[in-house]
Amino acid sequence: MFDSGFGGLTVLRELIARIPGANFVYTGDTARLPYGAKSRATVARYATEAASFLVDQGAEFLVIACNTASALALDEICDAVTVPVLGVVEPGAAEAAAHSATRECIVLATSATVESGAYAKACEKLGVRALEKACPLLVPLVEESWTDHPVARQVAQIYLDDAFHAASGQGMNPDTIVLGCTHYPLLRPLLAELAPPNTRIVDSAESVAQRVAEAFPATSTGTAGSDCSFFATDSVAKFRTLGERFLGRSIPSVQLVDLGG
Ligand code: DGL
Repeated sequence: MFDSGFGGLTVLRELIARIPGANFVYTGDTARLPYGAKSRATVARYATEAASFLVDQGAEFLVIACNTASALALDEICDAVTVPVLGVVEPGAAEAAAHSATRECIVLATSATVESGAYAKACEKLGVRALEKACPLLVPLVEESWTDHPVARQVAQIYLDDAFHAASGQGMNPDTIVLGCTHYPLLRPLLAELAPPNTRIVDSAESVAQRVAEAFPATSTGTAGSDCSFFATDSVAKFRTLGERFLGRSIPSVQLVDLGG
């Protein structure tokens, strides 16, 4: 599994729950995050380096937990490796399509993901109209642990109001919000509280984990514990401390890796 940093551990958490017998290797490109404000070319270069590193580690299946890398660089990643690759965008869109009664949704994501239009395209293929809303302040708020802080509350409310207002300006009636960024599952309770009543929240971390579990039916019924190895491109101490919050369990050791400049 690969992410720009710690956020993808929300996807790993879901994977461990669904495929308890599998071995996971997770790489967080913490030295080069955030990806969410970078260009397509840069994200593609970083992401393909990380993908090749994971295949060198023996990965047989690659999960791109980072929404920004999935949105901007999935084709480049697939071209760079020979193993199957799954990003988070298509499973998240499919989950929205499966549940939206109005066939209209709002996608909250990083600026780069929104600019790529990847979620809107994936939703459109499934007959769902998506309004994408960039929420750049949410990642630092989550990393600061301000998931229910008055400031987070106010920022989230402003983003939601903007998104629903823009949607209604376009004649839309969205009944579903897609969490299109690795960090947003930690804000799910807050977003659920602040969103209009009866809005369904789709977590792309859950959707991709479900899809991977379907690809590994034998392991998903196993009872053995998962073996997880962690690599980070910057401070391993910071990865452990922050990562444990995203993963919801302890991270005994992290190895430092240099993926390039
Ligand atoms: N992992 C990124 C994503 O899901 C969020 C953090 C970043 O911008 O690097 O889009």
